[in-house]
Amino acid sequence: MPSLLHLDSSADPVDSRSRAVTAAFAAAWRDADPANTVVHRDLHRDPLPHLADASLHWPVAFRGEVAAPFRAAERLQREVLDELLAADVLLVGAPLYNYSLPSSLKAWVDHIHVPGVTAPFGDVDRPLAGRPAVVVSSRGGSYDEGTPTADWDHGVPVLRIILGEALGMDVSVIATNLTLAERLPGLEEQIPRSRRELAEAHEAAAALARTLSASVRA
Ligand SMILES: Cc1cc2nc3c(=O)[nH]c(=O)nc-3n(C[C@H](O)[C@H](O)[C@H](O)COP(=O)(O)O)c2cc1C
Repeated sequence: MPSLLHLDSSADPVDSRSRAVTAAFAAAWRDADPANTVVHRDLHRDPLPHLADASLHWPVAFRGEVAAPFRAAERLQREVLDELLAADVLLVGAPLYNYSLPSSLKAWVDHIHVPGVTAPFGDVDRPLAGRPAVVVSSRGGSYDEGTPTADWDHGVPVLRIILGEALGMDVSVIATNLTLAERLPGLEEQIPRSRRELAEAHEAAAALARTLSASVRA
């Protein structure tokens, strides 16, 4: 059964745009085929701990004896890795927090980027190579090319490097910007663009879910 692993990391349970867009993607994925399944992990409501020990960054054969306090952490990491490895499509809600990833999402990245398991090392190449990963980025401001803040987003680039370059996944990014335009004084002029980008993100998410459902089935 084609499976979607749906991650959310926004700390806003009410007005989150990334949650709204990932939900639209998941709904379209379910509608596209009754056989499609979804596993939802909410990294904010049910956070992973920080990586308990540096040894967990390496495959079991290179860890040596894992100290007793870290065995439970090792089991949790295995669960998170198995969940990712079983997914046909990965969907990641990724708000921009302090020009970076939410710490809840960073903790997930620290758990799943394991050379020799998900990334190349020794005999292991990249078991997730070519699998689709969809990143839904929501950003309070805007980071347009040619503006002084163009390269201040250090969230999406990290996901492109880890998921795309290290794990070899086929990464698509759906972005919605200026999400704070309706909340903060002084940004009123940006409200039309903010609303337009949100509507476009919903459409893009639904269309991509249908496309990926068809390609996974083929
Ligand atoms: C802790 C925190 C840090 C933030 N830092 C930034 C930032 O560096 N740049 C930015 O454009 N917006 C920033 N924002 C605004 C969020 O990116 C914006 O509210 C976005 O819509 C959050 O995603 P969500 O709507 O899915 O919750 C921050 C918000 C929070 C809560």
